Amino acid sequence: MSTVIYPGSFDPITLGHIDIISRASRMFDKVIVAVLKNSTKKPFFSIDERIELIKESLTDIKNIEIDSFDGLLADYVNKKGATTVVRGLRAMSDFEYEFQMALTNKHLNPEVETIFLTSSSEYMYLSSGMVRQVAELGGDITGFVPEIVKNKILEKLFKG
Ligand code: COA
Repeated sequence: MSTVIYPGSFDPITLGHIDIISRASRMFDKVIVAVLKNSTKKPFFSIDERIELIKESLTDIKNIEIDSFDGLLADYVNKKGATTVVRGLRAMSDFEYEFQMALTNKHLNPEVETIFLTSSSEYMYLSSGMVRQVAELGGDITGFVPEIVKNKILEKLFKG
């Protein structure tokens, strides 16, 4: 069975991430969406909230597993018995960072192959931080995130 791991902070999941996950789910038997626990970034949503939002956003895709991890991605890939990682490439600016991560992971675990899917054009400029900022400043984030994520962001920002 072919398995691919899609790691990220998903704070929160956006339509850009969902685009990558749904395309990967057609290429592999199983996609493991792996949420990084101990990011250096200050989290907006807790790990449990992020996982719940991913679950609720991906009800249409059956061949996925949602998990969290900390420590090295190279070790996590090994632990899951997988060898392939997928990442989305939005613009040239992603390339250098992604290249560095792919090579570091390969150095740490030579079995790991990283594959890249080019982002669909409508999501090329999207990031979780941008979505949070637009929402914070009162902008409309419809079209960036699923409805359920939009409502949860607005709830956290303005009712919490
Ligand atoms: N569509 C929309 N947004 C996307 C996207 C896509 N297809 N792909 C990435 N992004 C956005 C994210 O929303 C995020 O936005 P933000 O910074 O505003 O929150 C940003 O791009 C960064 O992407 P993300 O996928 O969350 O990656 P990351 O850089 O936070 O984490 C890990 C990358 C988890 C893979 C990496 O940190 C990791 O492997 N960590 C484990 C430690 C380790 O092994 N280190 C050594 C190897 S580097």
